[in-house]
Amino acid sequence: MKIGIISDVHSNIQALSTAFEYADNHGVDRMICLGDVVGYGADPNPCCDLIRERCVTTLLGNHDAAVIGAMEESYYYQEAKDVILWTRDQLSDENFSWLFSLPYTAKVGDLGFFHSAPILPSGFYYMVHEGDAAYHLQIFEKLDRYSFIGHSHLTQAFILSEDEVRDVTGTTETPGDGEKIIMTVGSVGQPRDRNPDLCFVIVDTESGAYEYVRLSYDIKGAAEQIETAGLSHRFSRRLYEGI
Ligand SMILES: [Fe+2]
Repeated sequence: MKIGIISDVHSNIQALSTAFEYADNHGVDRMICLGDVVGYGADPNPCCDLIRERCVTTLLGNHDAAVIGAMEESYYYQEAKDVILWTRDQLSDENFSWLFSLPYTAKVGDLGFFHSAPILPSGFYYMVHEGDAAYHLQIFEKLDRYSFIGHSHLTQAFILSEDEVRDVTGTTETPGDGEKIIMTVGSVGQPRDRNPDLCFVIVDTESGAYEYVRLSYDIKGAAEQIETAGLSHRFSRRLYEGI
């Protein structure tokens, strides 16, 4: 079975539609969303509607939590906070309740899914440096063979053995005997690895092989929606820059 893993859509319907279209045309059987459906972008309801329809599982991201009032807004800088409040106003009752129902984690066989670092899913910790991955040696036994996470909007992968971490970012290396992998799947709606193309991961559950999918999409359309909604220029500009 092929699973498409999307994350950090951030109310970008142009990017989300392109990602689903690709998945439909490339034999993906099931889609999972790692959270941050909303925040930053201008189309929260269309993104919630489409993800609710298309994803078998969706997790709660920190922006989703802030929008529904389950996380302190003070965690965010002013412009991000403004969009959180704007999004709260825009959301349909149905989508608000749906966000409220989302879990922190999910599991399919030996694949684990998280929005942020698996060591404490509700803590929204980042997984950016090798040291962040090394913390997970403390819970090595509890980790699934694969952990897919979002949150950083980056594309990084670390293979852990019982007492060691190896940075395998930029490769498609899979964990060997006695090894486990933690990887960030990139962002559909607001990539930050200096590549503005949307990003997600497809994994084959039989072979364990995975790939990062990068696709260009209608950035101009998404940016214009942000401008029209009166949200910060910062969020439209960064779509073009991939930062
Ligand atoms: Fe995010």
